[in-house]
Amino acid sequence: MDTKTYLITGAHGFIGAWTVKRLLAADAGKVVMFDRSSDPRRLRLIMDEDEIEQTSFVAGDITDAKTLPPIIEQHAVTHIIHLAGLQVPSCKADPRMGAMVNVIGTINVFEAALHSGGQVQHIAYASSAAVFGASDDTPQTEDKAGNTGSHYGAFKRCNEDNARIYFQDNNISSIGLRPLTVYGTGRDFGVTSDPTKAMKAAVVGRPFHIRFGGRTDFLYAADCADAFIRSADSNQPGAFVFNLHGETAAIADIIAEIEKEAPEAKGTITHAENIMPIPAELDDSAIVATLGNIPHTSLAQGVQETMARFRLLHSEGRLDTADLDV
Ligand SMILES: NC(=O)c1ccc[n+]([C@@H]2O[C@H](COP(=O)([O-])OP(=O)(O)OC[C@H]3O[C@@H](n4cnc5c(N)ncnc54)[C@H](O)[C@@H]3O)[C@@H](O)[C@H]2O)c1
Repeated sequence: MDTKTYLITGAHGFIGAWTVKRLLAADAGKVVMFDRSSDPRRLRLIMDEDEIEQTSFVAGDITDAKTLPPIIEQHAVTHIIHLAGLQVPSCKADPRMGAMVNVIGTINVFEAALHSGGQVQHIAYASSAAVFGASDDTPQTEDKAGNTGSHYGAFKRCNEDNARIYFQDNNISSIGLRPLTVYGTGRDFGVTSDPTKAMKAAVVGRPFHIRFGGRTDFLYAADCADAFIRSADSNQPGAFVFNLHGETAAIADIIAEIEKEAPEAKGTITHAENIMPIPAELDDSAIVATLGNIPHTSLAQGVQETMARFRLLHSEGRLDTADLDV
């Protein structure tokens, strides 16, 4: 059997670290990590040093067109999972840099695949639920996207269009995935990181205010990573874009789950009432129809696992709480 080699861009980020962990757990192939940051702190939150040592790491900037081709050649990369990117607040603060990283960076990934002489077989890349604008309360199908309320969403939408053109013009196959509120150990940036921060705050005995309310689509990090891996492994020709769906719940409900795990935190985790201008629930029937059932961890189990991990890290003196000072 041919060995697969996965290149994970943004591997030192939250979803990147979980994708590395799940690739290693599945013994899926070789893992090459790429990130601008050389700080492996998120990997260390969820993996042992022995596991991390099974991977290779290359530091580089995704906006540099010359960075990826030699890595792909040297490591014989066959599959790319592209997660490097700037999130909503960073794109809002500096739209030009946001476009460089999120749009040009993604072009660089597709160009590197195009010029790999057929070695790169498939690309899975992170789009986002931010391609949708505010919507009614019903589960949204892929075609309802549009009217985004952020530069970030506009960049992600642009990437989806560029992926379609790379298939049309160059036969480069890809799957773009649209997660919404991904949670789990290592989530520490962006407004939708607040529920994870609330779990951490409850573990360390600090109050925390979640900056939004209403309902949102919670996706556990392990399930999100598995969806990216399944997408990278797909051999279906085409440029697909799929929603991801976990479990839609009210912010008040996740607070109740947190309090179940940490009764001593009762009343210390609060939330604002404003509703995020993105859908509360995504319809994932298209990805299920194309790739089969995607792993699904219940919200109760995901919260329980996350808080158990935070507890362990806290007891070992390894839980950084700087992200709680938002
Ligand atoms: N976390 C979520 O809930 C969520 C939801 C929807 C979409 N996404 C998308 O999924 C992807 C991963 O998200 P995340 O939560 O892991 O984000 P993250 O911020 O934790 O990780 C992103 C990583 O990209 C790296 N990076 C940034 N600029 C770079 C550059 N110029 N060159 C190389 N690396 C660079 C960062 O160092 C970081 O390690 C992103 O594209 C994000 O937009 C995330």
